[in-house]
Order: sequence, then C-alpha cells, then structure tokens
Amino acid sequence: MRRPFVAGNWKMTQTHASAVALAKGVADGAKALVDQVDVAVGPPFVYLTAVKEAVGNSGVTVAAQNAYFEQPGAFTGETALDMLTDVGCQWVILGHSERRHVLGETDELINKKVQAALAKGLGVILCVGELIEERKADQTNAVLDRQMEGGLADVTAEQMAKVVIAYEPVWAIGTGETATPDQAESAHAHLRNWMQSRYNPDVAQATRIQYGGSVKPDNAAELLAQPNVDGALVGGASLKPETFIPIIEAAHVSVAS
Ligand code: 13P
Repeated sequence: MRRPFVAGNWKMTQTHASAVALAKGVADGAKALVDQVDVAVGPPFVYLTAVKEAVGNSGVTVAAQNAYFEQPGAFTGETALDMLTDVGCQWVILGHSERRHVLGETDELINKKVQAALAKGLGVILCVGELIEERKADQTNAVLDRQMEGGLADVTAEQMAKVVIAYEPVWAIGTGETATPDQAESAHAHLRNWMQSRYNPDVAQATRIQYGGSVKPDNAAELLAQPNVDGALVGGASLKPETFIPIIEAAHVSVAS
C-alpha cells in the first residue's frame, strides 16, 4: 500500500507574513492527518526558512519549487541543492510544466537536476504531463514516455525510493478544468507500466504518482479513489488552509477505504 502524499505548490505567490500564516494554518490542520498522509508545502525560495520554522514539528515537510544542479559557486540567481538541505527542505519539485513551458527547461536539464538532488539525499517530485494539442493528437503516452525517459536517465532502481512522479496535464493546470478520474487513472497506469518495464515490478508498485491540475476539495476524493492515484500536487487550492486541508482529509479517507 502506497502512503498518500499531498503537496502544495505555492508557485510565485505570498508575502512573508502570508506565507508564515498559511504554513501555520496548514500545520495546524494537518497535524491529525500526517499519521496516514505525507504532507508538504512548497513556498518560493525566499520564504523557505520562515515556512520551515512555521510548520515546526507538525510533521508537515517543506519542498522547494526548483534548484540548480551545480555545486555552490558562480551561478548568479540560482539556488544550490546544498542550500535547500541547509534550510531543512526535504523535497524539490523538478520539471514543473511552468518551468518547461515558460522558462524553457529541457528533459536534459531536468535530468541533471534530478540526479544532483538525489545525490544530495533530497526527495524529488518529478512533474510530467502533456499539452492539450498533444492530448488531442493522441500523443499523451508518447509525451509521458519521453519525459520519464529523459528526466530519469541514469537514475537507478534504488534511487527511485526517493522519487515521486506528479502527472500534471498542462491543460488542467490553473484552468479549473480537471482531468476526469478515468483520464487521470489511465495516465497513471501508463506511468506505472513504464516504471515496470524500465525498472522492475517493485519500483513500479512502490513509487507514488500524484495527480496535479485543478485539484479542489470537491474533486479530490474521486481522483484519490483511483487505484493508481497516490496523492495530489495542488496549486491554487493549496493557498488557503480551508481548501488545502479538505484535500489532505480526502487522502486520509482514501487510506481507510
Ligand atoms: P492548480 O492546482 O492551480 O491547477 O495547479 C496545479 C499545479 O501546477 C501544481 O503544481
């Protein structure tokens, strides 16, 4: 049985004060749920330290939204993985669609980041997902294969213990248009089969696959009820405890059922 994992991606939002308040609200609400569900919040870099302090020992962990693969040095504007571990970050989100499509990140660059993050002992949330035109052209599985192949190049079966996959169809991100439970399940099953062929059945069974794209309190339960959906990567609805906590509760309920 895979332990559900619900993570909030705060993207480029918040002030210092709102980030601390949000982190405290999530920590309070999630305290009773972290027995069965892994929970992480992903603030912008500048608020990582404050958020780490705010979640305290609630069991809520902290994720960065990106990192650079090089060792600390002359890379103006970048953030090293050592800096993330230094401030108590346990996770790093890599390959998010906004980094791929707005900032131009390639599978090759993402793979360097994945490898470097794993070498530092960080957990990686690797995001994959197709554009609407790729879905319409029946290319979804081919795109997922390419992104998995590229992003996980030279990542070993042992290292996969620290990897979580997030399936985020680009057309469902921030649009209010969620993948149907069937669409999510079909992509997740495909990703699990890919891991079975590329690695082995144990890796395929153990690796968690989050769904991301307009997850809300009113659609979380049916998505999380799918056999291959092991959690959620939440954008907009993670920005308020009132909408984020019910999604964690839905994951908690999915364990019992
Ligand atoms: P929304 O939940 O706002 O659609 O964002 C999803 C996402 O990109 C999470 O990483």
